[in-house]
Amino acid sequence: MQNFVYHNPTKVAFGKGSISKLSNLLPKAKILLLYGGGSIKKNGIYQQVCEQLEGHQWCEFSGVEANPEYTTLMQAVSLCKQENIEFILAVGGGSVIDGAKFVAAAVNYAGEPWDILAKGEPVMSAIPLGCVLTLPATGTETNTASVVTRSELGQKLSFLCDHVRPQFAVLDPEATYSLPQRQLANGVVDAFVHVMEQYLTYPVGATVQDRFAEAILTNLLEVGPKVLASQDYETRANLMWNATQALSGLIGAGVPQDWSTHMIGHELTALHNLDHAVTLAIILPSVMQYQRQHKREKLLQYAQRVWGLSLYDEEGAIDLAIEKTAQFFRDMGIKTSLSDYGIEPSVADEVAARLQKNGFTQLGEKQNISPEDARKIVAASV
Ligand code: NZQ
Ligand code: ZN
Repeated sequence: MQNFVYHNPTKVAFGKGSISKLSNLLPKAKILLLYGGGSIKKNGIYQQVCEQLEGHQWCEFSGVEANPEYTTLMQAVSLCKQENIEFILAVGGGSVIDGAKFVAAAVNYAGEPWDILAKGEPVMSAIPLGCVLTLPATGTETNTASVVTRSELGQKLSFLCDHVRPQFAVLDPEATYSLPQRQLANGVVDAFVHVMEQYLTYPVGATVQDRFAEAILTNLLEVGPKVLASQDYETRANLMWNATQALSGLIGAGVPQDWSTHMIGHELTALHNLDHAVTLAIILPSVMQYQRQHKREKLLQYAQRVWGLSLYDEEGAIDLAIEKTAQFFRDMGIKTSLSDYGIEPSVADEVAARLQKNGFTQLGEKQNISPEDARKIVAASV
């Protein structure tokens, strides 16, 4: 196992009715309520949150889009400065929470905030934030990551920083009842791929991380179809907690990590505005095939422990495990070929060129995926 420091201080209030705990979680400070395109007004969460804000000084900013836009977030930064905001409460899915993280960092940043993403400039401080999660998927509710899009430049970039990890996360599974099937499916697939990015590399003898990862994968295989079929509370609760744990830092501590599927996927979203999880469902099976020699031991472990396959024929087991993974995504209603979305094979060249331009030239747990390799991976996903 590799050395690691593990510290996840986000306080989680989980369960039915947990939004009622918000008032006590919030500090005595001037608060900005940040949210998206209005789903929280339709499903009653806005009302519940407003009740909790009673007695607090607060104002709001709405309109954070899916794949949050830099220009929108910079408007929120101006509002924070104008209103002397001291705490941000993000209510929504990954986009709103990621947006809040960027705003929190940008308000205190002396230079051009885009440099935090484009140049990896360090963030020395941020306004504290907390969140109410409405879409189980990204794990952003307890982690240090944020992904921001700048459409005018065709870029979707991320940064990691301890200062933007939410102080608290309110996870009420009932908040997911209003989610359309597409977003539920996206959530299951995103969480599944988060685990794969941290698990499907090479063995380092990390038994807790491996078994936890396999548990989350197996849970998601079970929960995925159920979540599409009903509004059962326990199923929603399990989806929510599995998705949080998939990217809370726990299963990724002390193990090599890949993230090439995500990096290639971000370029596809920047180019074609595909949902984040859709890009992952398209790219992951091709990464598994392309890297099968480098990932061989973990692929066999995955085939055996997650899919219960016999390893009598090892190559056959790997092929079947990859095919079953892609079929699972399709069973969730997410198609796995670029052509399903009307995207031409030439996109492979564009993705490779963008990875090169953005400096992502050594992807994967062994840093052995060059833009040319990424081109072949995308080309294999047509
Ligand atoms: O904007 P509103 O009206 O809220 O509608 C949203 C949005 O249209 C809607 N929605 C959310 N909760 C709902 C709901 N609709 C009905 N009922 C509810 N309870 O769903 C739509 C999609 O929301 P979004 O936040 O974009 O989805 P998701 O949570 O999948 O977040 C995706 C973003 O997170 C980034 C992705 O790249 C993408 O930008 N990621 C962030 C990560 C992180 N910070 O750790 C890791 C991930 O790998 C990912 O990259
Ligand atoms: Zn993801």
